[in-house]
Amino acid sequence: MTQLQHSESNIESIESCRDDFPALHQDIHGHSIVYLDSAASAQQPLSVINAVADYHRHDHANVHRGVHTLSHRATEAYEGARDKIQAFINAASRREIIFTSGTTESVNLVAQSYCRPRVGRGDKILITHLEHHSNIVPWQLVCEQTGAELIVVPIDASGQLDLENFDEMLADSVRFVAIAHVSNALGTINPVKDIIAKAGQLGIPVLVDGAQGIPHMDVDVADLGCDFYAFSGHKMFGPTGVGVLYGRESLLNDMPPYQGGGDMILEVSFTGTTYNDLPYKFEAGTPNISGVIGLGAAVDYLQNVGLDRIARHEQELLTYMTNQLAEIKGIKLIGTAAHKASVQSFLIDDIHPHDLGTILDHQGVAVRTGHHCAMPVMEFYRIPGTTRASLALYNNFADIDRLVTALDKARRLFA
Ligand code: ALA
Repeated sequence: MTQLQHSESNIESIESCRDDFPALHQDIHGHSIVYLDSAASAQQPLSVINAVADYHRHDHANVHRGVHTLSHRATEAYEGARDKIQAFINAASRREIIFTSGTTESVNLVAQSYCRPRVGRGDKILITHLEHHSNIVPWQLVCEQTGAELIVVPIDASGQLDLENFDEMLADSVRFVAIAHVSNALGTINPVKDIIAKAGQLGIPVLVDGAQGIPHMDVDVADLGCDFYAFSGHKMFGPTGVGVLYGRESLLNDMPPYQGGGDMILEVSFTGTTYNDLPYKFEAGTPNISGVIGLGAAVDYLQNVGLDRIARHEQELLTYMTNQLAEIKGIKLIGTAAHKASVQSFLIDDIHPHDLGTILDHQGVAVRTGHHCAMPVMEFYRIPGTTRASLALYNNFADIDRLVTALDKARRLFA
């Protein structure tokens, strides 16, 4: 736990947070915007936008490479963000925080650098039925490359993991587990801590895809006990194109570099190369400096609001949204697990989600429609896609009322 998360937050009321997000103060098709697509990409507060702009205005230079003032400033801000993130997720060391381009790259890094050299024919990699494609395809690639087998924990009709046979599955040659913290399509919060504990008893490392977890709850990697935790800047009010891989230092030390290039080396000659220490061994080339600095500002922002307060606010909104949506005639809620965060997927009558999304947009309401990069979930429900409303700290009850009114209008249009 970080100190800030447990101290008084600096922001007076969560309702006032909305004022910090410039994009939420505009009209779309003549209506004030209602942004319910934060699971795809969250809006950025002014503090993040300013941190990135200030860096570009005053401090831009390459990091770790210059003796001049701007390079020192850029390096200080870049490495300062690493320290913030270490504290934010309670990692044991800053060497365990690797900057990547996002969750997808973080998962691919672990798949190729940790798993690929360690698995082979007869070994199994375990994922679940509700994973995002970015926590499926990298493992399929490793299986193709090594002959290992991908096995999948099933889900039930509510969108919850069916863990009845989990212990037997895990004990049967599983060498690695990769699991979402929160399902992006359904909002299900998985019991990752229990799963990690079970895997730990068998010495099986676990990667948690935290893309949809970290904006909504207090994530403490030491408490979870996970070996890897992957997340993206843009889901947590930071910039796009930047993310983090947390990895347990002992595992990272034993992994070969994922990419070769500048900054990840100590010495290069034609007879061989010595790699840099952690975390730089995994950060080849000039990184996304401004993105990292923006991500650091996003962490400051989240800590100022307070993760506990965010989780409480979003749970209230989610309950309200689910109850309001359930009242709509012809609606089918997809994803009704007991423990959920921030997301409700649904279908209305036989209206195609893309048509519904377009009609909502004309009323200023932004939602995501389609398979949400989770095609196996859609296959499970035998549907092509859903309309998904996803919440963040800046949403309020009025947003949900606007969604319901807009859906009602759409339903009448199609009737
Ligand atoms: N993974 C993102 C989503 O759930 C894009 O919408």
